Amino acid sequence: PERVFSGIQPTGNLHLGNYLGALKKFVDLQEAGHDCIFSVVNMHAITLPVAREALLDQTRQIAAAFLACGIDPDKSIVFAQSAVPAHAELAWVFNCVARMGWVERMTQFKDKAGKDSERASVGLFTYPVLQAADILAYKATHVPVGEDQKQHLELSRDIADRFNREYDAPGFFPLPEPMIKGPGARIMSLKDGTKKMSKSDPSDLSRINLVDTSDEISKKIKKAKTDLEGDMPSEVDGLKGRPEVENLVGIYSALSGESVEAVLRQFGGQGFGTFKPALADVTVAHLAPITARYREILADTASIDHALAKGAEKARAIAAPIMDEVRDIIGFWRG
Ligand code: AMP
Ligand code: TRP
Repeated sequence: PERVFSGIQPTGNLHLGNYLGALKKFVDLQEAGHDCIFSVVNMHAITLPVAREALLDQTRQIAAAFLACGIDPDKSIVFAQSAVPAHAELAWVFNCVARMGWVERMTQFKDKAGKDSERASVGLFTYPVLQAADILAYKATHVPVGEDQKQHLELSRDIADRFNREYDAPGFFPLPEPMIKGPGARIMSLKDGTKKMSKSDPSDLSRINLVDTSDEISKKIKKAKTDLEGDMPSEVDGLKGRPEVENLVGIYSALSGESVEAVLRQFGGQGFGTFKPALADVTVAHLAPITARYREILADTASIDHALAKGAEKARAIAAPIMDEVRDIIGFWRG
């Protein structure tokens, strides 16, 4: 049976990249009737130092964003990773299944650890092993994520496959499939078409935050970098070598649901003075209701906690029997 799982870290503000690469896809999958589990992965968040209050606040913020975007806790499971013990338990087992060489290859560790990797936490190193446990604790088969998670998903598949072979349990864990396709999978910085839009970019002008006002969104799009080549191309080929323009067209396409070809047919030959205001309109029209709902939900901490508690209960009910099977397969004594 198919099951969708994905997670978002409670660190910093969500932006348009998170929305188009992840959240919007989550909602689409839910609405298509899939069995969906979405986690606020707060255990991943402590791989880098974070203050207690900030972690709690941000956990609720991500949960509120899930709900504001249209995740319905009656249809999907929404919960905080730390509320389900199976994640940590299975991560330990997978630490013993994954090979050092596999994990050492992960480029995100190299990016996040910086130059002095000796001082990075061990948790930051095994971060992708915990990610595999997140997915496989529910035997999830499909994982909607942005392009940057491709390597982590490959590791999850390798871990599932090696567990199945090593313990002679063919097919026990599914090999989870990444769902990365679509124009939203890699949204780039508004200031540099070669860098991804990111929570950690020091320039706020580089990203559109889910909490930005309509004015801020319009201003940021107006100031977004383009290039000196002038008008919009009218065919996809014309986007080659124009990463900033390609990114803006991609955003328009992802938000409007029109193909890139259709967007270029409409705007080809026109200047950015025409395209940018149109893009700002589409973005504001799409995000304003979400932002409004987000603020409302965030003001009601009790309802967020209620949704998370209900989600945790449902998540535990799925993961616990799978963990019992894992213990039996490995030969862990359990009374
Ligand atoms: P994170 O905030 O790093 O936990 O990421 C949450 C989700 O957003 C993951 O599925 C990422 O792949 C996705 N994501 C992050 N940045 C971008 C981006 N610039 N474009 C598309 N997806 C992104
Ligand atoms: N590593 C993911 C990110 O940075 C977050 C994540 C943690 C995740 N566990 C996951 C995504 C499981 C998909 C499935 O965005």
